[in-house]
Amino acid sequence: MTERRIIVALDVSNANDLRRLVKQIKDSDCRVKIGKELFTSIGPLAIEICHDAGLDVFLDLKFHDIPNTCAKAVRAAARWGVWMTNLHCSGGADMVAAVREMLEGESHRPLLIGVTVLTSMSLGELRQLGIERDLESHVDYLAKLAHVAGLDGVVCSGKETHRLRQSIGEDFCLVTPGVRPKWANNNDQVRVVTPARAIANGSDYLVIGRPITASEYPQDAIARIVSEI
Ligand code: C5P
Repeated sequence: MTERRIIVALDVSNANDLRRLVKQIKDSDCRVKIGKELFTSIGPLAIEICHDAGLDVFLDLKFHDIPNTCAKAVRAAARWGVWMTNLHCSGGADMVAAVREMLEGESHRPLLIGVTVLTSMSLGELRQLGIERDLESHVDYLAKLAHVAGLDGVVCSGKETHRLRQSIGEDFCLVTPGVRPKWANNNDQVRVVTPARAIANGSDYLVIGRPITASEYPQDAIARIVSEI
């Protein structure tokens, strides 16, 4: 059983809001995710604020570039001491291999997680890109590519977790967003699963934002989710 399975999505855009939020959550119960909006707004200061609060950081920048550039960007993330970061599997096996090789000489190696197909993408959009597989098969294909290329896991929706756990096995980290406790608002998430269901299906980590961050007492919301898990 992996401890601290909740990753709180810190979807704020300035340092004051971030400081206020991290003060309200305990490092013993969760980790945190810094995404593109926050990182583009305040840069590595976001990582420093979280680390000063004792929180492990998932740097969710979904890197996708030529192998050399992607590898150097991930190395920079490693040097900031982040716990987890991610890259697009569709960047290809050479890109993933370049990242892994670049990290071999580093004293700290973050968990490397692949993004398969963004959940916002439709089958029609895959077709526009010239991809003939159906969505599920393409997710499976990219997840296998990630596994073979040596990534530590993939981001996947709660609806995909069970299938990927069965096909790839235990030794692969599944990170699931779109999680909603029964008592929380779904917001703009459509195909949601509850925390308990996601874990039962095989997720290792749950990315949860607004049910925690929009709550008057974020730590209470976290405690409630931990007890449900
Ligand atoms: O507030 P909420 O729980 O919906 O936040 C979920 C977080 O996970 C957001 O940062 C969002 O960008 C991210 N995410 C997602 N769905 C995906 C991938 C990432 O909601 N498929």
